[in-house]
Amino acid sequence: MSFKSSIERLRSNLLANKDEATATTGQAPVASEPSQANVTPACYQFELFPEYKEYTTMKWYYEKQKFPQNLFQPHVGGSDATVMIHDRQYINYSTYNYLALGFDDRVKQAAMKAVADFGVGTGSGRSITGEIDIHSTFEKEICDVLGTEDAVLSVGGYSTNAFTIGYLCRNQDLILYDELIHNSALIGCKITGARRIAFPHNDYDALEQLLKTHRGNFERVFILVEGVYSMDGDIPDIPRFIEIKKKHQALLMVDEAHSLGVIGKRGMGVTDYFNISGSEIDILFGSLSKSFGTCGGFVAGSKPLVAMLKYYAPGVLLYGASPTPANAAAALEALRVMLAEPERALRLQENAAYFIEKAQASGLDTYNSRNSGVVPIMMRDSELALWMSVHLFEDGICTYPMMYPIVPRNKCRLRFFINTNHTREQIDHTIDVINGRLKKAPKSKGIF
Ligand SMILES: Cc1ncc(COP(=O)(O)O)c(C=O)c1O
Repeated sequence: MSFKSSIERLRSNLLANKDEATATTGQAPVASEPSQANVTPACYQFELFPEYKEYTTMKWYYEKQKFPQNLFQPHVGGSDATVMIHDRQYINYSTYNYLALGFDDRVKQAAMKAVADFGVGTGSGRSITGEIDIHSTFEKEICDVLGTEDAVLSVGGYSTNAFTIGYLCRNQDLILYDELIHNSALIGCKITGARRIAFPHNDYDALEQLLKTHRGNFERVFILVEGVYSMDGDIPDIPRFIEIKKKHQALLMVDEAHSLGVIGKRGMGVTDYFNISGSEIDILFGSLSKSFGTCGGFVAGSKPLVAMLKYYAPGVLLYGASPTPANAAAALEALRVMLAEPERALRLQENAAYFIEKAQASGLDTYNSRNSGVVPIMMRDSELALWMSVHLFEDGICTYPMMYPIVPRNKCRLRFFINTNHTREQIDHTIDVINGRLKKAPKSKGIF
């Protein structure tokens, strides 16, 4: 399979992700007569799977271009504004450890104490004997911050998002989601039997139109959006979504993975940014792998919502292990540090504004990013984005390309996660190096 056809395949996978048609049933095709004709080695030898060929083609491309390998490189120590890889220090824009709490002494101490007190695992799911008081303390304190009635802490961010959607939405329901929603939500949609329709990014009128057309034909209607979009770095008008969902008796779910800890005057996410209560949002999802610097996820909302998720939602708590003592304690301590030191988020916001200002002044395109920790720099195409990423790596700057089909062909970019610890000097240097490299970039060969 050529590189181009690999990419085409990836593209069709992505489009399938966004398919608005009813979900497939997952039933195998029924052959009229038993036949072995379809059973080729490509069905049972991994090295012949087309998916593997995608990987080998990408590897071939790196080798052909003599690109240094910048993926899966182990780092040592913490990873925030800088990162140490193979004895070299890089200015780091690849981490969403936004507030540098992943390597903070207080957070590490809290995790170590939890390991000393409870061990490295709880030995079962939360409802059995996997519960420790750190879980419920985190839930209580996050509710105090967000203004929600209750919350449930779970082991993974991705899984919590996917399985919350997967549990709540049924055949007779409709999911309306922003076209830029994260893959965890898309997978959540796919495991439901609900009808799903993407609406154009932040297009409130298009959403209203969909609701006017379809609301009456479905029981529950879910609207899925993010607090900060992880590719574009923009913040949707959440109060407007609240207005729309109320008008049409729908349920609003906000993914706060990249907003909590970052936006708002205390850095406490969309409720802080828009000065609203979390009780206005039906389902509020948070990840612990970003600002909290650890791993896990939670959902906050009303008592009935959380009770259902706690007792009955497979993959949230049911049929899975509980968050480890270390992860839960780290999250709790990180939350307390965030509240005690709002200057961390404010510094990040200032760094992001400075980065955007400098980039734009030098002629770079930062697209829609505003007031968040995600800043894209738009490239002409995938080849240029990849070339820039590997060459910036050579220059000691760590940032990764977002290429087609993750983003549309004409919207390929480098993505920069801004950190509270970035310095003005690092940002100035980065913008200079990007511009220097862009001047030397070869013409793309149309490989992608
Ligand atoms: C918008 C968004 N939602 C959900 C997730 C999944 O969260 P986690 O990293 O905690 O698994 C991510 C991860 O990058 C994300 O960017």
